[in-house]
Amino acid sequence: MAAISFAPASGVWLLSTARTSYALRIDDTGAPCHLAWGPRLSLAAAADLIPPPAVEVSSFEGRPPAGEELPVDGGARYGAPSLRVRFADGTRAFEWEPMGHRIDEQTPGAAELALEFRDRHYPLAVTLHYRVHDDTDVIERWTVLRNTGQQPLSLLRADSAAWTLPPRDDYRISHVTGQWSSESLLHREPLPHSETVLTSRRGITSHHTSPWVMLDAGDATEDRGEVWSAALAWSGSWHIIVQRTPDGRTAFTGGAGQDGASLPLAPGEEYVTPCCAAVYTDGGFGAASRAWHAYVMAHVLPHPDELRPVLFNSWEATGFDVDEAGQKALAARAAELGIELYVVDDGWFGARRDDKAGLGDWSPAPDRFPAGLGPLVEEVHRLGMRFGLWVEPEMVNPDSDLYRAHPDWVLHYPHRTRTELRNQLVLNFARDDVAAWAYGWLTRLVADNGIDFLKWDMNRALSEAGWPGRTDGQDLLWTRYVHNLYDVIDRLRADHPGLRIETCSGGGGRIDLGILSRTDQAWPSDNTDAADRVSIQYGFSQIYPARTMAAWVTDVPNQLTGRSVPLRYRFHVAMAGVLAVGGDLACWTPKEIAQGAELVAEYKEIRHIVQHGIQQRLRCPVDDAPSAVQYTTADRREAYVLVWQRAPRHGTPRPALRLAGLDPAARYRDVRTGAVHHASVLTGYGITPDLPCGDWSSTSLHLVRVDDEGAGA
Ligand code: DGJ
Repeated sequence: MAAISFAPASGVWLLSTARTSYALRIDDTGAPCHLAWGPRLSLAAAADLIPPPAVEVSSFEGRPPAGEELPVDGGARYGAPSLRVRFADGTRAFEWEPMGHRIDEQTPGAAELALEFRDRHYPLAVTLHYRVHDDTDVIERWTVLRNTGQQPLSLLRADSAAWTLPPRDDYRISHVTGQWSSESLLHREPLPHSETVLTSRRGITSHHTSPWVMLDAGDATEDRGEVWSAALAWSGSWHIIVQRTPDGRTAFTGGAGQDGASLPLAPGEEYVTPCCAAVYTDGGFGAASRAWHAYVMAHVLPHPDELRPVLFNSWEATGFDVDEAGQKALAARAAELGIELYVVDDGWFGARRDDKAGLGDWSPAPDRFPAGLGPLVEEVHRLGMRFGLWVEPEMVNPDSDLYRAHPDWVLHYPHRTRTELRNQLVLNFARDDVAAWAYGWLTRLVADNGIDFLKWDMNRALSEAGWPGRTDGQDLLWTRYVHNLYDVIDRLRADHPGLRIETCSGGGGRIDLGILSRTDQAWPSDNTDAADRVSIQYGFSQIYPARTMAAWVTDVPNQLTGRSVPLRYRFHVAMAGVLAVGGDLACWTPKEIAQGAELVAEYKEIRHIVQHGIQQRLRCPVDDAPSAVQYTTADRREAYVLVWQRAPRHGTPRPALRLAGLDPAARYRDVRTGAVHHASVLTGYGITPDLPCGDWSSTSLHLVRVDDEGAGA
């Protein structure tokens, strides 16, 4: 049971989750200070961690950069601040004055703590919020800042939370980097001393890194060891700054925004930071990922219980060459394959024949869809599939009617170039009129055409992020852009409860807990090469569950890499997430359609295990040996294992694969062969995967518990 308790004698608050504890207190200066984050403690034990009063070591040190719940810019502090304010008279230093606390245990399954403060002199109220849940060790934190005065002030940095790790001999950091079409590449490396900055300054979450971090003491493995991890629920620019201090401590602060941008706070106005969630586990990186997956399923996704349908997407099949006849023909083949959701990608509207024109003019192209989208939607529905459509509401091509009518709607500065990327400019979604326009056409489009699914794309980063005509615009827009984006999506969902949305930003440019709380799945990368995808999916799986990971089977040679791998391998890689097909079905041979249909049917049999099960990364894609991932239903009745082997050297060992998470006393039947295996053998000694010879071989294993046969059988 999650709980929050307070010991007035020691002044310690203790937040308890099922397996972890988090403790804090207010020190003599009034600042909220960290005591513990790790294995479970009692309230009395947590009080042992109260440090003795600080002794000035030298006149150069000041307060240690690790150890505060929200280090401010103020006093003798020289680490990365979580909160930096500029008051109306130019004063910057913030001084804490505690104003009380509230513990709320009214919500079933959760407990919340609010610690209230204000500045000792200036009109700023700060509330630190903490929430714990019964069903997860993830702790949620956010901060609320309120201007209680008569004059505006500026938040130069307003992070969600700072997190401190207990002292360890060494530290290591895990995070992902990448770029377009090579997102989510995992790095696990010694934590550098001083400061490490993970950030996006692009106005979107970015392909280049993802707003999460994992830290360990250098000794964690996939299966064991302590891991501390945090993730931000924010879809704009962000930063996480990790500090490794000279006295051997580690802490990090994270929040929305980027260096140089500030947030104006008008009199009476309140800013609620995005949530920064974090989890501690002693079960290694695998357990950390599983904790995140379960948290995303239970507390982030809007419809976690649904099984995602197998979709077809037209992008790699037809590019911009989209018309009613061609899409109807593809839809017929998609139906043969067992596809459940047919998605028409870019190219269906305005003068969109390539990426140079039409973006912003959201009416079906009359030469391609003479009777509008209606006949195609009807046909797709008649074939028994749902209908999905690609949109990119935040963008405009200068060659469009929208831009000709509203050149002032884009982000820009006077006297500055409007830099085009992919021949497009960014609409200023921070403007309420722009957001209202987008909401208006989107809700009509969905209602008028019976659209079941939107793929919401966003194909460039922000630049010249100006808002002429509003003096505070440049500062305000980074936050307001994201809030208005969220608001448009929220309103659309409210209008159309059956509508489902995929988040996409040229692949994985906008995947984070913020956007996932209002979408149903994510497009992790435009790179659909199954071989590359194994590493991308491995990085993605560190935080995000398979239920959110769309994965297409496309044609070979792959459009991006030129690599050819067998259809079966492509399917097996895509079956590790939400299976989809993106190849040109008009060119698939009857044999390929038949093999594809068989694999789609297999996926439908096991997708509840992949999408709702517990994921174990059995062998990571790090060397020549096969890599493998297992999914197990929560009741351990079924397990599904996917194994992929790249191009093995002759003599590459094929180690037995030790499964995990099975019911130890049970036996499991291999659905394909009928063979029955003891769980104790499968987990303790392993099984040699039945991989065909040759390059790019893959296999799957579906195990069902043999309920009526006992342990000793
Ligand atoms: C980028 C997306 O990631 C692709 O899947 C496709 O939708 C294109 N945009 C269309 O322009």
